[in-house]
Amino acid sequence: MENIIFYFSGTGNSLQVARDLARELGNSEIVSIAKVAGREVKISPKRIGLVFPVYMFGIPLIVRDFLKRLDVSHDVYIFAVATFAGAAGEALGQANNELKARGLKLSSGFLIKMPGNYIPLYEAISSERQAKLFKKESQKVRKIAKLIHSGVKKKPEKSFFIFNIIGSAIYKNMSPRIFGLDKGFWADDSCNYCGICQKVCPVGNVKVFGKKPIWLHKCEQCFACLQWCPKGAIQYQKKTLFKRRYRNPNVSIEDFFDTSEN
Ligand SMILES: Cc1cc2nc3c(=O)[nH]c(=O)nc-3n(C[C@H](O)[C@H](O)[C@H](O)COP(=O)(O)O)c2cc1C
Ligand code: SF4
Ligand code: SF4
Repeated sequence: MENIIFYFSGTGNSLQVARDLARELGNSEIVSIAKVAGREVKISPKRIGLVFPVYMFGIPLIVRDFLKRLDVSHDVYIFAVATFAGAAGEALGQANNELKARGLKLSSGFLIKMPGNYIPLYEAISSERQAKLFKKESQKVRKIAKLIHSGVKKKPEKSFFIFNIIGSAIYKNMSPRIFGLDKGFWADDSCNYCGICQKVCPVGNVKVFGKKPIWLHKCEQCFACLQWCPKGAIQYQKKTLFKRRYRNPNVSIEDFFDTSEN
């Protein structure tokens, strides 16, 4: 394969972008970062792609760890696409810094605005508003694929200056605590023990032993467990009660069953 695109996704936005990019670029394989987590990744394609969501104005911890283990030639073309909902901060700059620490760097980096999934703050937007964002997504993916094909080098996109400053401070403060933030999850009495939350967790952090789920404190905060629960039984503190869940309508729940080794 000419292109290998690594992705991480909780509710499907980044998976959609990874798939659309693979189709536009042609000759591409997509690989779940959760599948290769914790391993050295030594590969030699012509181009490497990274697609992931922005979390707390930065990159998900699992993506950060993946970048530390990437073992590729220094002249490979690496591009990244971060999906975000409002303000991406310096997420792509951060990914670039991780690569630079290994003597690599991003050849190009792009942001794509998608429906938000951070349900403690807001519920899913209407399907009409989602459709508008998906239309823009497909236009931007086509543009990105053309640029990548042309071999252009492009500075990673970022949001407004003020978001970058505040965002970096928030990320620095929050990232050491992310694994334990699952203490806020609980399942209400509508849980029927179906086990789907366990199956969709990309890092094996949810266990359902014939009882309601428990969380094991190695959480990535992707919100897949809560958003994909078919009964809407999972809550985060009291912040998600009565809020409409978000699941990208262009992917299916089965896409998430096979993403981790757990
Ligand atoms: C824990 C968490 C933190 C987030 N932080 C941000 C953020 O700082 N800025 C932003 O624009 N979107 C943020 N989002 C929204 C996601 O980046 C966005 O919805 C993304 O497209 C979700 O991708 P996915 O469906 O592939 O998981 C956050 C979402 C989560 C779950
Ligand atoms: S997915 Fe929902 S209903 Fe199924 S076990 Fe998990 S919390 Fe219970
Ligand atoms: S426990 Fe839930 S939020 Fe945490 S990593 Fe697993 S699916 Fe994502």
